[in-house]
Amino acid sequence: MLKKSPLALGIALAITTLASSAWANEPIQPIEPAKEINGAMAELGKKLYFDPRLSKSGFISCNSCHNLSMGGTDNLKTSIGDHWQQGPINAPTVLNSSMNLAQFWDGRAKDLKAQAGGPIANPGEMAFTHKLAVEVLESIPAYVDEFNKVFGKEGVDVDKITSAIAEFEKTLVTPNSRFDRWLKGDKAALTADEQAGYKLFKDSGCTGCHNGPAVGGNSFQKMGVIEPYQAKSPAEGLVAVTGKDADRFKFKVPTLRNVEMTYPYFHDGEAETLAEAVDVMGRLQLGKKFSEPENVQIVAFLKSLTGDQPAFQMPVMPPSTDKTPRPTPFEK
Ligand code: HEC
Ligand code: HEC
Repeated sequence: MLKKSPLALGIALAITTLASSAWANEPIQPIEPAKEINGAMAELGKKLYFDPRLSKSGFISCNSCHNLSMGGTDNLKTSIGDHWQQGPINAPTVLNSSMNLAQFWDGRAKDLKAQAGGPIANPGEMAFTHKLAVEVLESIPAYVDEFNKVFGKEGVDVDKITSAIAEFEKTLVTPNSRFDRWLKGDKAALTADEQAGYKLFKDSGCTGCHNGPAVGGNSFQKMGVIEPYQAKSPAEGLVAVTGKDADRFKFKVPTLRNVEMTYPYFHDGEAETLAEAVDVMGRLQLGKKFSEPENVQIVAFLKSLTGDQPAFQMPVMPPSTDKTPRPTPFEK
């Protein structure tokens, strides 16, 4: 049998994809499965993502606030950090976060790798230091071996820790939602109400800000375009990064993928239900008051954006050794 070169295969694939782009004129595109993942690095990153030993208390991991069994969030208004501290802002989902133009509500981290070092050393989150995180991992030979193998370079450091976590996060995409199947041509994948909801979503102008494969995540926009938003959080958005007054109250537009699972909503977590979030968006962003049946249809459409959730074997962490610094959960 003649073997096609990877390049020829790639071109053939690209042509078929283009030719069959039923969604070519749609503002939303399907999510594709993660590509070009370094499997060994992602496996290491998965362990680190779930490892509470990267926190001062030995109790908080990335998964505590971005629970992969709950849409990559904690479903709390604002997160709980070290010593039961009340966080200042709602935790966005990590699902599909690799598609964001930047990380955090105000975009202060340029990518997932830049983001991943933050929470470990944040006194209000994991409350550790990078030095201690490295010490913990260095005290566990199985971790050291894995780091050496994955990076082909001796030693554990923060750069490797954040690279591995970011590589794992790149795998956390959610393709194959009913909406995506509909986009790709399976017209029975959505009910009439869901299709009507999508039409309302487009025709009302929601897609002006919520578009692309992640249905958001690709721009900063003002919260409260037509009417001001009375936020319960002191956060002011993008202005914190740019210092420009025009950026006050601009936030990264959240992805609406899996939005049924990522309640409560908005940067202050004040909207408890999708019905409420849709109503606020209509009025504040577009000056439009949706009727009850319209609201129901838009919510029905939004729920069709739930895709395949990450599915994998739980990582088994290598055990601590006699040398591993012990957690200090109750120390002030
Ligand atoms: C105590 C809760 C908590 C822990 C622990 C935590 N996070 Fe977060 N995470 C948050 C909150 C809250 C935000 C939003 C902060 C902001 O925007 O100012 C956030 C934001 C993020 C974002 C940006 C998503 C977006 O759309 O902007 C990513 C990615 C992320 N965290 C990954 C991680 C990783 C990886 C870890 C572990 C190293 C971690 N988080 C640990 C609460 C937490
Ligand atoms: C002008 C840009 C813009 C338009 C138009 C817009 N949105 Fe938003 N949307 C945002 C921003 C910005 C946020 C985050 C606001 C915040 O948290 O303070 C958001 C948040 C949301 C959320 C909450 C998501 C979450 O995880 O917290 C939902 C749901 C939502 N929008 C739906 C809609 C719907 C439905 C429409 C149309 C009726 C719409 N949006 C129109 C910019 C927009």
